[in-house]
Amino acid sequence: MMETKRTKIAALLKSSEIDVNVVAKGWVRTKRGNKNVSFIALNDGSSINSIQVVADPGLIGEETLKNITTGASISVTGKLVASQGAGQSVEITAEAIEVLGVADPEKYPLQPKKHSLEFLREIAHLRPRTNTFSAIFRMRHAMSFAVHQFFNEKGFYYWHTPFVTGSDAEGAGEMFRVSTLDPINPPLNDDGTVDHSQDFFGKETNLTVSGQLEGELGAMALGDIYTFGPTFRAENSNTTRHLAEFWMIEPEMAFYDLTDNMDLAEEFLKYLVAYALENCADDLEFLEKRLLDEEKNKPAVERNDMSLTEKLRFVMENDFERLSYTEAIQILRNSKPNKKGKFQFPIDGWGADLQSEHERYLVEKHFKKPVILTDYPKDIKAFYMRMNDDGKTVGAMDILFPGIGEIVGGSQREERLDVLTDRMAEMNIPEEELDWYLDTRRFGTAPHSGFGLGFERLMIFVTGMGNIRDVIPFPRTPGSAAF
Ligand code: 4AD
Ligand code: MG
Repeated sequence: MMETKRTKIAALLKSSEIDVNVVAKGWVRTKRGNKNVSFIALNDGSSINSIQVVADPGLIGEETLKNITTGASISVTGKLVASQGAGQSVEITAEAIEVLGVADPEKYPLQPKKHSLEFLREIAHLRPRTNTFSAIFRMRHAMSFAVHQFFNEKGFYYWHTPFVTGSDAEGAGEMFRVSTLDPINPPLNDDGTVDHSQDFFGKETNLTVSGQLEGELGAMALGDIYTFGPTFRAENSNTTRHLAEFWMIEPEMAFYDLTDNMDLAEEFLKYLVAYALENCADDLEFLEKRLLDEEKNKPAVERNDMSLTEKLRFVMENDFERLSYTEAIQILRNSKPNKKGKFQFPIDGWGADLQSEHERYLVEKHFKKPVILTDYPKDIKAFYMRMNDDGKTVGAMDILFPGIGEIVGGSQREERLDVLTDRMAEMNIPEEELDWYLDTRRFGTAPHSGFGLGFERLMIFVTGMGNIRDVIPFPRTPGSAAF
């Protein structure tokens, strides 16, 4: 007999070739039936949908069927036939089933009922076998692919920046140290400080908080580049929007001003959302239903008036609102929640950093659409942002999204050497440390801009999940680095 090759279940479900021999392999979701017939729902991760396998106990054998329990891995050989039952168009009539790996029903922790997201976070290897997480992680792949496709179509180069660096790009000092020195007995300098000249790299190093500074070197040679990699921040923010290890996409473009930068970021976000709608329909349908179920348990005032796909369409079809920080402060100062003392951080003067409650008020209550805020006070932004003529604000832009707050942060860069070094002196950033960076301003400097998109914040938005821990396979947060 000629051996049939395995076909993925996604392809079988779409197949128009009926009554052919097929092999399917996967994990058993459920088994039901009686002594005359067994129905097995088989899933291999290629689709949110499982295929139904119809097994005749007389043919397959009681002993084999006994081992076909939720979580077991099996290989099914049989015929793909039109299904009689509701809910699927094709199914497999099994001719032989091999159990590849049993899953003891007494011990298997995933039951065919709903588990809480928190419970599932504790069992990393089984989490992706659930409908919810397999849908999220398939979409994570699709969104990554879309990122590369967008930039490739535009002639951007994927530029790899280091994970281990000697600089603090954002100047926030929230870095994980990288060292091979003995933590108990490190070599010391005469003044008692640790002697990092004896460390692996001969200096103090840390995990990168952003690839931007190295990205700028790429842009000042290749024109348009983007980075897409892991980013590490030791900020003690235990929120549903922060991870200690997250993925960031950072395009950097020579000859772009702030408006070009905003135009690109808006186009990029819309492209990603459109890609999800077009390519992840089955997973989105599942996640949309999940969200509706969840919303039913919420008090009416907290419920979203838009479904997940409506929300995505809305972002795709509407222009983002653009306004300056100064205009935003005016709106916030005169807002109802501010006047009634409802903000945890009341807005009184100009100059304060916006909290996520303010960002979400602007997006969800005032404008009811994504917002791009520009021209922030220099004192609340990083050293590399371009100084405006007023001497008070910088050419920054943050994109704020419903349910999320800041999803993108970016700016036009300070390309004037003297202005940049003055800023660094003001902020106590030693020039020697960034000499390599300042060289781009010394030789052939040019206006340029860029931004950073937090990939997991995008994933929260497109999946409708409420917690950033649930859109990454192995979340790292303060106090938690399991698996
Ligand atoms: O605003 P941030 O800090 O900007 C930068 O790092 C710049 N170097 C970007 C650039 O201009 N090239 O971070 C950019 C984005 C934020 O808007 C947010 O979406 C995400 O990164 N982000 C985080 N996501 C998850 N967990 C965290 N702890 C994050 N911190 C920032
Ligand atoms: Mg930011």
